[in-house]
Amino acid sequence: MKKIKGFIFDLDGVLTDTAHYHFLAWKRLSEQWGFTFSEHDNERLKGVDRIKSLEIILEINSKQNEFSAKEILRLANQKNEHYQQLIEMITPQDVLEGVSDFLLKSRSAEIRCAVASASKNAMRVLELLNLSNQFDFIADASAIKHPKPHPEIFLTCAQQLKLLPCECVGFEDAQAGIKSIHAAGMYSVGINVYVTSEKPMIELSSTKELNLEMIINAIEMG
Ligand code: BG6
Ligand code: MG
Repeated sequence: MKKIKGFIFDLDGVLTDTAHYHFLAWKRLSEQWGFTFSEHDNERLKGVDRIKSLEIILEINSKQNEFSAKEILRLANQKNEHYQQLIEMITPQDVLEGVSDFLLKSRSAEIRCAVASASKNAMRVLELLNLSNQFDFIADASAIKHPKPHPEIFLTCAQQLKLLPCECVGFEDAQAGIKSIHAAGMYSVGINVYVTSEKPMIELSSTKELNLEMIINAIEMG
């Protein structure tokens, strides 16, 4: 029988709604530079790193050949400045409903927990949410060479938790993240994922539906 020993969580859109702050920061940058950028476009950026996200926005606007690598870096830094201003408003009240209770129950059941976020701001966000001490390992996005959908970040977390991938469940709100979890050989729980190719193994419409017994049973008996 399968035995689940580790939970690996994405941050943005799973533990808190920073996905919206990322959208607002990209929107502000787009307004400054005259780019079109909608909430629908934003779905393509979820789970995608900063530079790749900007490249997608430029591509949507057919401007991918108009900016040098140096200018792309400058624009990405501008977006990050907007984002960093926005996240300072985060408080522990911004932990998504159901998450704190789920983490407490998981830890009491001796499930090891980690964070696999592509965000270089993850540490600060977790600190503002007062969640940092709930995890046995928090991946450093700047040390990850291959962004999601590559499995590197989830595999790094499993290794740091001293677990096999098949003993871990990954939690994600983004299609790129679900692919990353599957490529790592882990079980997946999707939170309101906009599915374009790979479906999560367990689909939830919000974090309010997180239920330890249900997830463990579905995987271990499945
Ligand atoms: C991911 C978000 O978690 O982090 C993406 O889903 C974001 O939208 C990426 O682009 C990188 O974040 P940051 O904070 O390093 O720009
Ligand atoms: Mg996410």
